[in-house]
Amino acid sequence: MEIKNICCIGAGYVGGPTMSVIADRCPDIYVNVVDKNEERINLWNDKNLENLPIYEPGLDKIISRCRGKNLFFSTDIIKNISEADAIFISVNTPTKKRGLGAGQASDLKWVEACAREVAKYAKGYTIVIEKSTLPVKTAEVIKTILEASKSETEDTKSTFDVLSNPEFLAEGSAIKDLEEPDRVLIGGENKNAIYALTNVYKKWVPEEKILHTNIWSSELAKLTANAFLAQRISSINSIGAICEATGADVREVARAIGSDNRIGSKFLDSGPGFGGSCFKKDILNLVYLSNYFGLKEVGDFWEGVVKLNNWHQHRISKLIIKKLFGTVSGKKIHILGFAFKANTNDTRESSAINICKDLLEEGAILYIHDPKVNSLQISNDLGKSENLQLKSLTLHDDFNFEGEWVFSENLNDGFINADAVVVLTEWAEYSNINWIERAKSMRPPAWVFDARSIINPKEIKNANLNFWRIGDGAAM
Ligand code: UDX
Ligand code: ADP
Repeated sequence: MEIKNICCIGAGYVGGPTMSVIADRCPDIYVNVVDKNEERINLWNDKNLENLPIYEPGLDKIISRCRGKNLFFSTDIIKNISEADAIFISVNTPTKKRGLGAGQASDLKWVEACAREVAKYAKGYTIVIEKSTLPVKTAEVIKTILEASKSETEDTKSTFDVLSNPEFLAEGSAIKDLEEPDRVLIGGENKNAIYALTNVYKKWVPEEKILHTNIWSSELAKLTANAFLAQRISSINSIGAICEATGADVREVARAIGSDNRIGSKFLDSGPGFGGSCFKKDILNLVYLSNYFGLKEVGDFWEGVVKLNNWHQHRISKLIIKKLFGTVSGKKIHILGFAFKANTNDTRESSAINICKDLLEEGAILYIHDPKVNSLQISNDLGKSENLQLKSLTLHDDFNFEGEWVFSENLNDGFINADAVVVLTEWAEYSNINWIERAKSMRPPAWVFDARSIINPKEIKNANLNFWRIGDGAAM
């Protein structure tokens, strides 16, 4: 069988870029991305490419090449399901907030809703592909729903195969990751279905990079990859704390261990802790799975990675407070970066959320800058609206504004009268700040806290500012 018409349910950070690249590389395949969120679909269809609902370098170019030709964004879920040979499920699977497995297991209600819709409206033979990050054994849930819903289906002759095809793209480099993947993983039982999907990827991915496994290995491999990556970050951040205590430098330690081929140099940057929609959620899924199967020690091992990350984020806020004479009440702090990493507008699980909340709790006045995250998103994440009066505030220690924040439109304005600057996201523009100039408007003895190691310590020294940077036991 040949896949000629794809429907992807979910036009988010995974579905949007993945389908755009498939459409770009397979001009003979119709790719329809559907979502129940009309506002999101309208943004995907917006003529002004600046308004796309997600920011991802290179995405706008692909959209302008393919949209309206073989790539379509729509809310017409039923029609697109019924016309598709292959349906990708790319909906959100957040951690459950209540009930059994709350705080650990993924909430599969959206996946389940999709499976029911597919069961009802699909026609003929359809390959259903899990794309969202899902707990192991979700394919079984999808299969069971597809089979059990036969009595409600519009086409009584419809048949299905379920494949797992997890996405390994990282935000900020999604297009490159999709165009030149390290591997494509396809798990399933039916060889014909596996080969049909393989033929789609073969249009641009070398065949030796397309791995076939059974369905459970594919699901588990996705969780494991994310758990290993997150574990590296907690490991290096834990060593960073030892460096700060002992006078060592985490960058030097990372370089030294990274040149061991067995360890490798990637993913060893100590920072403010990992964020993003996947790492924490996937590890908690592993923890839940381990405990479910009575493997408590295994669950505890992986849970330690998340605990260390939480501890590390709060360690940074405590440290800022300590350096500012034990209180940040009424002090102006300029936060540089709110996204969980550079080159994305995504703030899910961003370390900036916990760190800013801690500082606000202590009474700090925050001016928050980010080149791609908007103030509404920050309000939602902090659970607190910005105070626009702060835009014209020039006085120090205005205790009426303790615990308030405002969005800093212009990068340079946030430095005026600031007691401290905290770099939380590694946006390129933050490494080009003229510190001598900016220091002139800050209130001495002002501090720069660099949680991303992107600032040249010499420039800070020349500007007569106090400096702390992550994992640097020898910082001034
Ligand atoms: C991750 C996986 O990399 C990707 O394969 C998977 O499909 C989804 O989850 P993503 O969350 O987009 O991707 O970003 P990633 O680049 O992995 O970064 C995650 C977090 O770790 C970010 O907060 C980042 O700043 C942090 N990080 C990363 C570090 O602190 N140090 C590093 O060396 C690398
Ligand atoms: P991800 O990072 O996994 O892509 P997002 O939250 O960015 O997650 O996107 C998931 C999208 O899936 C959202 O836009 C949401 O509206 C959509 N969605 C969830 N459930 C359904 C459904 N049953 N039908 C259509 N779209 C859905």
